[in-house]
Amino acid sequence: MIRATLIALSQNRAAKRFVLCNSLARSTARRFVAGEELGDALAAARASNEAGLKATLDFLGENVASRDDAQRARDMYLGVFDRIAREKLDANVSLKLTQLGLDFASDFCLELMLPIVKHAEALGNFVRIDMEGSAYTQRTIEIARTLREQSPAVGTVIQAYLHRSEQDVRALSAIGCRIRLCKGAYLEPPEIAFVEKKDVDANYVKLMQILLPSGVYHAIATHDPRMIAATREFAEKHSIAKNNFEFQMLYGIRPDLQRQLIRDGYRMRVYIPYGRDWFPYFMRRLAERPANLMFIARNFFR
Ligand code: FDA
Repeated sequence: MIRATLIALSQNRAAKRFVLCNSLARSTARRFVAGEELGDALAAARASNEAGLKATLDFLGENVASRDDAQRARDMYLGVFDRIAREKLDANVSLKLTQLGLDFASDFCLELMLPIVKHAEALGNFVRIDMEGSAYTQRTIEIARTLREQSPAVGTVIQAYLHRSEQDVRALSAIGCRIRLCKGAYLEPPEIAFVEKKDVDANYVKLMQILLPSGVYHAIATHDPRMIAATREFAEKHSIAKNNFEFQMLYGIRPDLQRQLIRDGYRMRVYIPYGRDWFPYFMRRLAERPANLMFIARNFFR
C-alpha cells in the first residue's frame, strides 16, 4: 500500500513541488544521489574506485518533454564518456530511453542512442539501458537488440518481477547481450508481474541461474543478502569464476555489503545517480524501504 502510493506519487507534480521545497527531503535525497553536477558524480566514482568499486553514472532524467531535451541528453552523455576517459575512471553509463526520446518515437530514440553506443565502444566503454515501467519493456528490448547487433558496448536490464522475463533473459543472452538482473522498481499489475515478494525472489534466483552459466558477462543487482548468498552459492557450486560476473548496488545503500563483497574477491559496481531531476528516482528508493520515509516523518514532526 505505502509502496504503491509512493510510486504513484513519483509521477505527481504537486508532490514533486512539495518535496523539492522540503529541506529535510532534499537532505535525505542526498543519501541516494551524488549531487546535482557531473563533477559530483565523477568525485563519487573516483572515491568508489579508490575503495575497489567500479561505478556506473546515471544523469537523472526520464520522460523528457521535447525532442530538443532528448538531443541535449545525447550530447551530455557523449561528454560524460569523454570525462570518464580523461579522468581514467573505472566507470560506465546507465541511462533511460525515455530520457532519449522514447516517448516521441522508437526510431528517433534509436537515432540518438546509436552515436552514444558507438562513442562508448570507441572509448572501450559500455552503456547500460535501464528498464522502466512495463509500458516501455518491449520497445526497450527491441532497441537494445538492434543496438547490440551493431555493437557489443550495450546491454540492458531485466526485472525479475515480470512474468515475461525468463523468455527475455534467454533471448538476450543468446545474442550476447549483457544483462543487469534486478527485482523491478515500478508498480505493475498482477496480470503481468509477480506481486508477492517470495515469488519475485524465487524468479530472481531462477533467472540468476540462467544468466551465470551463459558465458556472457552479466550483473546481479540487489541489496538483498539472500539473493547475494544464492548467487555466491550457485557460482561456487558451478565453478563460475568471480570475474565472470559482477554484483551491483545503488549509491548510498548497504555500503557495508558493497565493501564486504570486494573483500571477498567479487566485482562490485555502484550505480551513481546525479542531476537536478532526482524526484522520481528518490520516490522509488523511498518505496523500496518505507523505513526511509519514517525517518523523514519523524524528523519533520520533531
Ligand atoms: P529488496 O527490495 O528485497 O531489499 C533487500 C534489502 O536491501 C532491504 O531489506 C534493505 O536492507 C536493502 N534496501 C533495498 N532498497 C533499499 C532502499 N531504498 N533504502 C535502504 N535500504 C534498501 N529497477 C528497475 O526497475 N529498473 C532498473 O533499471 C533498475 N536498475 C537498478 C540498478 C542497480 C545497480 C540496482 C541495485 C537496482 C536497480 N533497480 C532497477 C532497482 C531494483 O529493481 C529494486 O527496486 C531495488 O534494488 C530493491 O530491490 P533489492 O534487490 O535490493 O531487494
